[in-house]
Amino acid sequence: MDKFYVTTPIYYVNDVPHIGHAYSTIIADTIARYHRLNGAETYFMTGTDEHGQKIEQAAANKGKSPKQYADEISAKFKELWDEFEISYDYFIRTTDESHKLTAQLAFEKMYEKGDIYKGEYEGFYCVSCETFFTQTQLLDGGCCPDCGRPTTVVKEESYFFALSKYEDALLKWYEENDECIVPKGKKNEVVSFVKGGLKDLSITRTSFDWGVKLPKSLNEPKHVMYVWLDALINYLTTLGYAQNDAKMRFWDYTTHIVGKDILRFHAVYWPAFLLSLGLPLPKRIAAHGWWTKDGEKMSKSKGNVVNPHLAAQTYGLEAFRYFLLREVPFGQDGDFSERALVERINSELANGLGNLLSRTVGMSAKYSDYEIKQSGARELYNAELNEAKTHINAALSSLEGLSTNRYLEEIFKIVALANTAIAKYEPWNLIKQGEKDKANALVALCANLLSRIALLLAPAMPRTADKIATTLGFSIDTNSFNRLILKDELISFKASQTAALFEKVEDKQAFSPATTVQAEPQNEEQADEISIDEFAKCLIKAGTVLECEAVEGSEKLLKFKIDLGEKEPRQILSGIAKYYTPNELIGKQVCVLANLKPRKIMKQLSQGMILSAKDDDGKLTLLSTPTKVQNGAIIG
Ligand code: MSP
Repeated sequence: MDKFYVTTPIYYVNDVPHIGHAYSTIIADTIARYHRLNGAETYFMTGTDEHGQKIEQAAANKGKSPKQYADEISAKFKELWDEFEISYDYFIRTTDESHKLTAQLAFEKMYEKGDIYKGEYEGFYCVSCETFFTQTQLLDGGCCPDCGRPTTVVKEESYFFALSKYEDALLKWYEENDECIVPKGKKNEVVSFVKGGLKDLSITRTSFDWGVKLPKSLNEPKHVMYVWLDALINYLTTLGYAQNDAKMRFWDYTTHIVGKDILRFHAVYWPAFLLSLGLPLPKRIAAHGWWTKDGEKMSKSKGNVVNPHLAAQTYGLEAFRYFLLREVPFGQDGDFSERALVERINSELANGLGNLLSRTVGMSAKYSDYEIKQSGARELYNAELNEAKTHINAALSSLEGLSTNRYLEEIFKIVALANTAIAKYEPWNLIKQGEKDKANALVALCANLLSRIALLLAPAMPRTADKIATTLGFSIDTNSFNRLILKDELISFKASQTAALFEKVEDKQAFSPATTVQAEPQNEEQADEISIDEFAKCLIKAGTVLECEAVEGSEKLLKFKIDLGEKEPRQILSGIAKYYTPNELIGKQVCVLANLKPRKIMKQLSQGMILSAKDDDGKLTLLSTPTKVQNGAIIG
C-alpha cells in the first residue's frame, strides 16, 4: 500500500482530555507512524468537535460563550497531543471557516441529489450523546439507552436525510467488504441494526443556534446542522474536499479509528452521506473498546477518571503508550490499573527489554570495544534468526490488522528469544573456552534482534526505539526498516554506553491516586488557592423566590424570578428540576451569585446563579440562610 489516511474521532470540547481520548489518538498515531516507516505516503488527522447543544450548555455552565470555551478546551487537546508527540498532520476545529464551508457544500450536494427534505421532528434527544431517540428506544423514566441520562422532548421543524433509501446499498457494502468494519463482532451488530430497518435522520435543529448554518441557497436562518452531520464531514474538510485539493488523493485509503459508542454514526450514517455525495466509502472503520479504572466505570462524580497527562508524567509516556496498546485486544474493553501498569514496566520493559540492551552493550564493550561485527551470526544462530523472522511477520500483520496487543506480544517474544539465547549459549563461558568468535557472533545476533525490535517498536514507543538505535548506532528510518525488517539483512554496529532504558517502579511510588483526577476540582485539596481579593470579586446575595416554573423542552431546568432587593426581580435558570418541584420553592430564600455575567440558556436569559451543594450521588440541595435575612443581604 503506498498511501494511508488515518483519522481519530474529533473530540467534544465540553471537557478536558481523558484516557479514552488518549487511547483513540495513540492507536491512530501508532499506525500512522508504522505506515510512514514502511514507506507509505501517510496523512493523519485529529481535532475537536465544537458545535451542538452539549457544548453550548457546558459553556453556559462556565459563564462563557461557546466559542471562548471551545478555544480553551481545544487548546488543551492540542497541548496534550504535543506533549505526547502525536505525529498528526492536521488538527481540525469544526469552528474553522473552511470546515463550515465544506459542511455547507456537502449539505447542498445532498439536497440537490434529492436526499434531504423538510419535515417536522417529534421525539426525544439526549444532549450528552447528541442523539435522537424514539419513545420505544428509551429506558424507564425516559432516559437515554446509551448513557442513562434523562432525555428532552423535541418537537421542531427539521430537515431530514433520506437514510432509509440507503439501507440496501449499505448492506451490500458490508457484505462485499469483509474488513470494512472491525472487529467482526462489532460489524455483525451494525449489520443487524441496519437489517432492523433504517429511519430517515433529522439533520437540522431550530431550538438553539450553536451550529453550522445551512447553505445560503436554502434561506433557512433558523436552522443549524445537526452536530453529527457537521462533525462527520470533518474527515473531508481535512483533505480539502471543498477546494478539490490534491490531498483528496488520500481518501481512497481511509481508516477511521473510533470508540465502540460512536460506531453507528461512522458505520451507518457516514457511509450513507458519502454514498449521497457520490464518494468512495472508507476502507476500514475500526471500533475500540472502553477503559474502566480498577474495574469501575470512570466518571467525574466518582473522581476516578484517568488523566493521561498525569499518567504519563508519573510512569513515563512510553510506558503509558505501551500499556494502553498491550493490555487489551483491539475492540475489547480494558481495565486501567496502576498495579498492572507497574507490573508490565518492571517485568517486560525494565527486566525484559532494558536488560537485553544493557547486556548486549556490556558484552560488546568487554569483548570487542563496542564493535559489533555481524560475521558468523547467520551461520551460528540461524535457528534463532528464523524464529525471530516468524515473530516479525506476525507482529507486522497484527499491527496492520490493528491487533495492537498481539503486535507487541510478538515483539516481546523476540526480546525473550534473545535473552534466552544469552542464557543458553553463555558467552562468558565461550570467552573462557577461547571461542571468542562464537561469543562475538552471539552479541551480533542480539544487536541485530534488538535493532529489529527497535524498528518494530518505533510506531508504539518512538522514544524507546530512538534510544536503542542511538545506543547501537543506527537510525530508525524507512531505509533501515527495508533492510532489517523486510529483507532480513544482518548488519554490524558501533555501540556506545547507555543509561538504563527503563527504571523499575518501586512499590511505594506506585498505587498512589496520582493518575486519577477529577476534571474539575471538587474538594479543598484539589482546588487552587485563591486570595481574599479574588473571593471578594464574587457578589453573593440572599434573595426570595417569587416565581418558579419548569422550562419547556428541558427536564433539568427551572426558571426563577428572584427578589434580590433590587428594582426588578432577576430571572435565573437553574438545573435542579430533578430535585425540586417549582411550587415547593416559591417563597424560599436562596443564595445567589449576583455578579455572574448574564448568559442565555436554551434561548432564555439567566442573570445569576443559585448556589447549591452537591452530594456524592450528584444530588443538589439549594443553599439558604438558617434564619430569614433581608433580600439583597450580602453573603461572604
Ligand atoms: N465528538 C464525537 C466524535 C465525533 S467524530 C466525527 C465524540 N467525542 S468524545 O469526545 O465524546 O469521544 C471521543 C472518543 O473517546 C470516542 O471514540 C469514545 O469512544 C472515546 N472514549 C470516551 N470514553 C472512553 C473510555 N472510557 N474508554 C475508551 N474510549 C472512550 O464522541
